[in-house]
Formats: sequence, C-alpha cells, structure tokens
Amino acid sequence: MNHEKALQAVEQLMIKTVESDVEVLQDASRHILAAGGKRMRPRMTLLAYEAVGGVAMDTALPVAAAVELVHTATLVHDDINDHGVMRRGRQTINAIWGRTFALLTGDFLFTKVYTLMAPYGDLNIIFAEMTAALVEGETLQAAAAKAGKLDRETYARIIAKKTASLFAGAAKLGAMLGKATPQQVEALYQYGFNLGLAFQIVDDILDLIADSEKLGKTAGIDLTQGKGFATAMATNGNSVHGSVAVAEAQEEDPAAAFKRKLLQGNYIEEGWQQARQLAAFAKMQLEILPPSAARDELARLTEAAVERDY
Ligand code: IPE
Ligand code: IPE
Ligand code: MG
Ligand code: MG
Repeated sequence: MNHEKALQAVEQLMIKTVESDVEVLQDASRHILAAGGKRMRPRMTLLAYEAVGGVAMDTALPVAAAVELVHTATLVHDDINDHGVMRRGRQTINAIWGRTFALLTGDFLFTKVYTLMAPYGDLNIIFAEMTAALVEGETLQAAAAKAGKLDRETYARIIAKKTASLFAGAAKLGAMLGKATPQQVEALYQYGFNLGLAFQIVDDILDLIADSEKLGKTAGIDLTQGKGFATAMATNGNSVHGSVAVAEAQEEDPAAAFKRKLLQGNYIEEGWQQARQLAAFAKMQLEILPPSAARDELARLTEAAVERDY
C-alpha cells in the first residue's frame, strides 16, 4: 500500500469510527473530519513505520487514525476555550451546534480512541502519556492567560506539552510498530518533538500575521488572550495587561496597539529563525535511518512544517 493510499484508508477508518446512532455526535464529528486538515501527525506515524522497515501497513492504520482523532478532539475543545468560530475553512462545531455539543463531540472523539487502540497493548501507555501531556500543556497555557503573564520558560514548557508531545508520540508509535531499534525509536521521537516545537512557533506567528481566511481558522486569538510566541518574547512574564495599558496610553484600541508593539519587535523574524533551527535539528535525526522514500518524505515534512503561510 503506498503512502497516499494508506492516508486515504486512515480517512475512511476515522469516518467509520465516528459512526453513532446519536446523530449530532456523528454529524459534528464528520463535519470537522471531512473538512480535512494537514494530517501531519498521521503522516508521521505512517512514514515512521515505513522508514524503519515496517511492511504490514494495515497494522499502522488504526494508530495513525487514533493520533489524528486525538488531535481533532483537542481542536474541537480548543475552539470552545478560544471562542474560535472558524476551523479548517468551516464554521466550528461550537459555532454551529453550541458549546455543549462541541464539548461532547470532543469527548466522543477522545473516547473512540480506546476502540482503535485496544489491540496495541503497551503502546497505549505511550499514547496515554502523550495525550495527558497535551492536556497539561493546554492547562498551563490557560493558567498563564488567566494570570495575564507568560514568561519565555513557561511558553517553552507549554508548547513542548501541548504540541510537541503529540508529534513526538506520533513518530515514536510508528517506529515502535515497525519494530525499530531503540536508537531509531529515540531518533524518531526527537524528530517529532523538535518538529512539533517548530510547528507551534510558526502557528503562533501565523496567528499574528495572517488572516482567518488564509488560515481557515480564527486568527488573532493569541494576541487577545495573552498567548503565543511573540507575547512570551515581548512580555517575558510581565503583565500582558500592563503592556496593553502602556500601549493604550497613546492608542484608542488596546489590542491594535499591543499588536503593533509585537510587530515592531524583532519577534516574528526571531520566531522563524528558531523554528528553522528546530526543524533542521529534526531533519538531522533522520540520518540514522536507511535511505528510503519514506525517509525523504519525513525530511520534506520538516520543511513543510515551517515554510508555510497557513
Ligand atoms: C493546529 O494544528 C494546532 C496546532 C498544534 C498548532 P494543525 O495546523 O495541524 O491543524 P489541522 O489539522 O491542519 O487543522
Ligand atoms: C494548539 O494551540 C492546540 C493544541 C495543541 C491542543 P492553538 O490554540 O495555537 O491552536 P489553533 O491556533 O487554535 O489551531
Ligand atoms: Mg486555538
Ligand atoms: Mg494557534
């Protein structure tokens, strides 16, 4: 089965997995799944599996689907928390069905992972840990936003947990399924982890500089909620509200003033640079793998994750 066929099979498996006789759960799940998305994480699981010599692609499909369902569930919940109204070019579930059904759809997607992962024994421990880390990261971020303070160290901790953990787990699970050597497993974990950090920094930059239309999701949220790379760099633990107030002294609109403050700093450029360095480090990890089309594609993903405008 080639890579594109395998990805299509993952799509079908996800749609099948969210079947339910409770219509709203099935409709809302399909609404977000059918909208597509980059599918970075399931790609990584499948490619890592192939790159270490895995040949029975069927065995990797449920794990790749489970990884994408977790990611999708977190987006559904994230849009409730962030009051996002657009996701993957469509209205969010909370915007169409309301917060209660969005919360429950997220729960449904999380819960369906049990079914997919049931045959995979100890891999469930890795899966559980990466999912818990993600929740911890989102919680640390919410706490920082509530306090109106975000220092650089906390930002690094947040993105390691909320994003890099899932990327790292996605690659590691693929490697383990493909019976990789311990060194290969570690290399693919590091590959995913560093790529995840880079990916989130770029996501934060795009949230600041791109518009919702282009991103297919509500932009500018981080700015108004005291989140993201530039906010951490600019305020480094000083009150975000204080920074807004200082900017506000000369401005009518505090958010616009704060945005200008962020754009005037060198933070955007610094963000791209850090992301590029992290992606290059991720790419280096692949050298331990034998040459293959899958390895080349993993290398290409390190560029796609950073050199993007949506
Ligand atoms: C968005 O992830 C959330 C982040 C971790 C930045 P993606 O950008 O992979 O979202 P989709 O799956 O393509 O919608
Ligand atoms: C990513 O955070 C969400 C998770 C990792 C769970 P963001 O809040 O930056 O994601 P977007 O920008 O809404 O996609
Ligand atoms: Mg968000
Ligand atoms: Mg974002």
